[in-house]
Order: sequence, then C-alpha cells, then structure tokens
Amino acid sequence: MLKDDIERVLISEETLQKRVAELGAQISADYAGKEPVLVSVLRGSYIFMADLTRHIDAFCRVDFMAVSSYGAGTVSSGQVNIIKDLSDSIEGKDVIVVEDILDSGNTLHYLFQLLQARHPASIKLATLLDKPSRRTKPITADYVGFEVPDEFVVGYGLDYDELYRNLPYIGVLKPRVYGENLISD
Ligand code: IMP
Ligand code: MG
Repeated sequence: MLKDDIERVLISEETLQKRVAELGAQISADYAGKEPVLVSVLRGSYIFMADLTRHIDAFCRVDFMAVSSYGAGTVSSGQVNIIKDLSDSIEGKDVIVVEDILDSGNTLHYLFQLLQARHPASIKLATLLDKPSRRTKPITADYVGFEVPDEFVVGYGLDYDELYRNLPYIGVLKPRVYGENLISD
C-alpha cells in the first residue's frame, strides 16, 4: 500500500491546511487592490496551488508552466528545460510563482530570469517547502510554508518517480524505496 512506503509523516494534513490558509490570507492582504497572476510550476505545485488560491480573497488569475531541472540523480543539473510555457502574457502583471519546494534553487534561478525578461510589474515567489541547507543559487522565497531538513520528501504534490503525489500529507520515504536511485523533476 502507498502509505507502507512512508517512514514518517513530516507535516500532517491538518498542519498543511492551516499554514496554507495563513499564506493565502497574507497574500490577500499584500495584494489588496491588485490582480495577481499565480504561476504554478508543474507538476509538484498542483495541490498547493489549488489549496492556496482558494484561500486568496482577491481577484487573481492562474497560469501554469512545466519545467524539468533534473537529469538523473539527486543533484539538480542546472539545465532547465521548458516543457510547457505560460498561456498568457505576464507583461505589466503582478506575478506570484508557486513552487512545491525550493531546493538547490537552480530551477527558480533560471525561471526568474526567464520571466523577468517578459517585464512583469512585479514577481514574487511562494514555496510550500524550503530546504535552505541545499541552496547553491541566491534565491529566497517571499512566502514560505515550512522549512524542511535535507531529506527527500513526498506527498501533497511532491513525487518520487512520479508516485506519492496524492498523499494528503508530507512524508519521508523509507530508504528501501529509492535505494541509491533518487531521481526527481
Ligand atoms: P531545485 O532546482 O534544486 O531547487 O529543484 C527543485 C525541484 O526539485 C522541485 O520543484 C521538486 O520537483 C524537486 N525536489 C527537490 N527536493 C525534493 C524532495 O525532497 N522531494 C520531491 N521533489 C524534490
Ligand atoms: Mg518533482
């Protein structure tokens, strides 16, 4: 069964929901009178995006991008490929990039350069999880759900080998599941 592969729950469903509601309230206050565009970085942020936007009490738009940052292995290669681009222009818009986890920062470093070149009015970053110990690029998030230790986590949108995204909590995988073959995108 799915949950038999989980060593322990790091962030419970209840704790996630409470924090995401807080972030939504904070964004609602910060963007009062504006109409932000929330850009979800697929696929990992899809659940966070869905929950977060339902806690934003303001006119807002949503758009989606898909990128891949990892080759094979546990370390981000720095090579980022766009798999799906935004549907609409962000020129002059207040953009909030919504990510699942800020790890090395490679993906977002690249993505921010790319989005900034399209001349948004402003651009901020909301990440559900932050692993600051792994950072190699100078990226900080404007909205952070939780800081997490340097462990591979799954659930609430985050995957290992495209599985476990549908767990309603954030959990740590049993090492036997990934062995020495940790690959993520
Ligand atoms: P970065 O470019 O190293 O910051 O990589 C960020 C991406 O790597 C995230 O959007 C995730 O898709 C993936 N990632 C990094 N750490 C984890 C983890 O612990 N679990 C699942 N995916 C992860
Ligand atoms: Mg992933």
